Amino acid sequence: MPPAAAFDLPTYWQAWRVTIEGELDRLSAHREPAKLWDAMRYSLQAGGKRVRPLLTVATLEALGRDPRPALPAACAVELIHTQSLIHDDLPAMDDDDLRRGKPTNHKVFGEANAILAGDAMLAHAFVLLAAELTPAYRPELALAAIRELAEATVAMVSGQVVDIESEGQAVAADVLEYIHRHKTGALIRAAVRLGGILGEASADDMQRLGAYAEELGLAFQIADDILDGTKTAEELGKTPGKDQDAGKATYVTLYGLAEARRRLAEARERALAPLAGWGERATALGAIVGYVVDQVA
Ligand code: IPE
Ligand code: IPE
Ligand code: MG
Ligand code: MG
Ligand code: MG
Repeated sequence: MPPAAAFDLPTYWQAWRVTIEGELDRLSAHREPAKLWDAMRYSLQAGGKRVRPLLTVATLEALGRDPRPALPAACAVELIHTQSLIHDDLPAMDDDDLRRGKPTNHKVFGEANAILAGDAMLAHAFVLLAAELTPAYRPELALAAIRELAEATVAMVSGQVVDIESEGQAVAADVLEYIHRHKTGALIRAAVRLGGILGEASADDMQRLGAYAEELGLAFQIADDILDGTKTAEELGKTPGKDQDAGKATYVTLYGLAEARRRLAEARERALAPLAGWGERATALGAIVGYVVDQVA
């Protein structure tokens, strides 16, 4: 018998990325007024790694479920994430000109339209959960998914508030961890837990998935902090060095680069631990942790 083909994350990711982007295109199909949907579609189609929808897909596969009926939920997380980026880049927040390798939304459409495109995108995510998950899933599961993403969105915004309020301040370690687990961790956790909800994970599996995602989310933002100071605009698709300039509270500014890397490696171990015993079914979830950590190498 030939050996099973080795799992290759880039191949797996690329295949799902095509599917996810097709679904995103369908679910954000152009409508009136053109200016609003042009602005929304501009940021949604600008690229992006699509790691959050991939996490929903990989979670369902880890649970032995078909991810396809859950794609609207995977896309809903990507909509909230993209909305958070449009608003994060506004002059009132991080004031960035480059995102996903293109001029930021407000640079192209103006500030008012960027704010409004973000508002509509946020609400549209919940339209997708309410309208597109049934009849494939029972209404109770769709309702649980709506609640999960709504709570995560409030948590993301809470992290953003503390991030902004901490600019130029010497923050305590626990405040920094709060910022990272909320502004970035919350949506990553929701992406995984949505897979758990729609895949009807057992209570034990859900607890493990939540613990995995919680630490992956922290690792993701520690890596983002490191990348800001170590990569080029071409590599990042966004302007590097912004955290330093803005006096942001980051793992690099608080701990220094070497200690930030050490804490990232610790978060990786904490993310992988809950998957122990899952064997091959958690290969993709584990590989995503590896990707997040290895990109800063
Ligand atoms: C960027 O997220 C913002 C953070 C939460 C760190 P991603 O690195 O996932 O950005 P895209 O979606 O690939 O553009
Ligand atoms: C990401 O924070 C969090 C959200 C956008 C919600 P950053 O401000 O570090 O993200 P980048 O570096 O602009 O992508
Ligand atoms: Mg920010
Ligand atoms: Mg930013
Ligand atoms: Mg950043």
